[in-house]
Amino acid sequence: PVRRALVLLRHGHSTGNGADAFSGWLDVPLSERGRRDAARAGELIAAHGVVPRVIHTSGLSRAIATAELAAAGSGAVDADVRRSWRLNERHYGVLQGRSRAEVRAEAGDELFACWRRSYEHAPPGGESLADVRRRLLPYWHSAVAPGVARGEVTLVVAHGNSLRALCMYLDGLDADEVARLNIPTGVPFVYEFDEGFRPFPRGGRYLDPEAARAGIAEVLAQGGAPGETLTFG
Ligand code: 3PG
Repeated sequence: PVRRALVLLRHGHSTGNGADAFSGWLDVPLSERGRRDAARAGELIAAHGVVPRVIHTSGLSRAIATAELAAAGSGAVDADVRRSWRLNERHYGVLQGRSRAEVRAEAGDELFACWRRSYEHAPPGGESLADVRRRLLPYWHSAVAPGVARGEVTLVVAHGNSLRALCMYLDGLDADEVARLNIPTGVPFVYEFDEGFRPFPRGGRYLDPEAARAGIAEVLAQGGAPGETLTFG
């Protein structure tokens, strides 16, 4: 039977993550740690037999560099690589470049949490998660899903919120559930698709669960995320 595998990977740790600043569409580079994350992600991808035939990245350097390093690390030397702005991180508007701690102190916990994790609300001049989902799904349907359905192992390298929008769709999450979904940098997770092209397991399967748990804890520590992070059975 055809194996329909989709590997999702949030870019490795970036200088924006390191500065605990909102990045959004700011084209911040990977940090040294992020470059190591990306190479290790490639090794995990190879070790789990999901070397990609096709790689999709956003138009931002931190994802493009992660894709290059993960492709090299996994031996995916002849993969097709495609870029699209539709996979870009959520545009964070006036918050881009500002430190989370500063914004949280200025705006207060409620508005801070609302800007980071609500579904419908956008930071001034930026995108809501709903906006991200609206501009990402056409790319999923037209450029990514057909290859997965044909059994071309596919890697998508994107961002915390653009992947949250995609996982919301794949796992059928509602606004409250996706508010509690946090994605670690640099740890690949895999969805497979059955005959009816339904994804499983819910939430995907992290190829290094321990690193994923640590990475999610880091995202939670940035503050403002409501309650404990979403987990699946
Ligand atoms: C950014 O754009 O700053 C991060 O990639 C995502 O930040 P967030 O987890 O605060 O939304």
